[in-house]
Amino acid sequence: MTELSDRRSAYLLGHSALERRRLLIQASYVRPWTVRFLRRAGLREGMSVLDIGSGLGDVSFIAAEIVGPGGQVVGLEREPVAVQAARHRAEAGGYAGTVRFENADLTDFDTDQRFDALVGRFVLQYLPDPAGALKRLAGFVRPGGIVVMHDMDVSNPDVSFPTCRIWNDCYALLGALFRSRGIAPDFGRHLTRVFLDAGLPWPDVDSGAMTGGRPGSAVFTWLGSAVQAVEPLLVQAGVALPEGVAVDDSLSAELERAVQRSRSMVLGNTHYGAWARLGYLGTE
Ligand SMILES: C[S@@+](CC[C@H](N)C(=O)[O-])C[C@H]1O[C@@H](n2cnc3c(N)ncnc32)[C@H](O)[C@@H]1O
Repeated sequence: MTELSDRRSAYLLGHSALERRRLLIQASYVRPWTVRFLRRAGLREGMSVLDIGSGLGDVSFIAAEIVGPGGQVVGLEREPVAVQAARHRAEAGGYAGTVRFENADLTDFDTDQRFDALVGRFVLQYLPDPAGALKRLAGFVRPGGIVVMHDMDVSNPDVSFPTCRIWNDCYALLGALFRSRGIAPDFGRHLTRVFLDAGLPWPDVDSGAMTGGRPGSAVFTWLGSAVQAVEPLLVQAGVALPEGVAVDDSLSAELERAVQRSRSMVLGNTHYGAWARLGYLGTE
């Protein structure tokens, strides 16, 4: 493997306790987008679903709610600690009858089962060859089945109006971190090309940005916890932190105060969903 693919294949954000907390916080904000993309893609009751890079299980749980007790969801995840956490959450959340998590690497996972749908959120960009991986994984979908991917874009340089400097500066750190690892911060916008390079039909796409600013808005915890979780990686990558910004538990409140002062509308990341239905002869 090249150095770049080495760096990519180690999941960028790691599996620290702070990162797990960030994923859980993120999951609640991101959930409506995922529900929308999965439903629009055609996920229905009774389907069998393969969720790639299942992490703590949130996408698998959404899929389980859609397919219902007559359906089945298999989550694939490489990190044993995440698989354990996802299994506990499945038990606690009452999903265990529908969802199963397997400790597996997407690059060499194999099965004879053919699924009705392949789903994935925030995972393709971490793989050394996203299109190659998608092509291989789509091979586990039956003819007429669905492939749906949810990714995002954190590259927007203009995420507040009127400009709120600390918001823009903190947001820019997320894009800088992706770039420092050779990962596209706007990967969501690459999805059409990745589907086509994978030999899949031209996908339908949908997108929308997390938006807020009102006191109490969820966006403050989202950005504060994200920056806090990635701070050690930023330092490691030599990305300078904005001057005068304390990256600790006080950051979300500080962001909120600054946005109240500038009376801004602020944007979070932009979410992209892309989906395609496989043909009955090959993929087209
Ligand atoms: C950003 S997390 C997203 C988790 C989940 N899809 C979600 O949206 O909540 C990406 C996950 O993909 C997993 N992952 C990355 N590369 C993988 C690989 N080659 N095989 C299996 N899992 C992988 C990581 O360990 C991580 O848990």
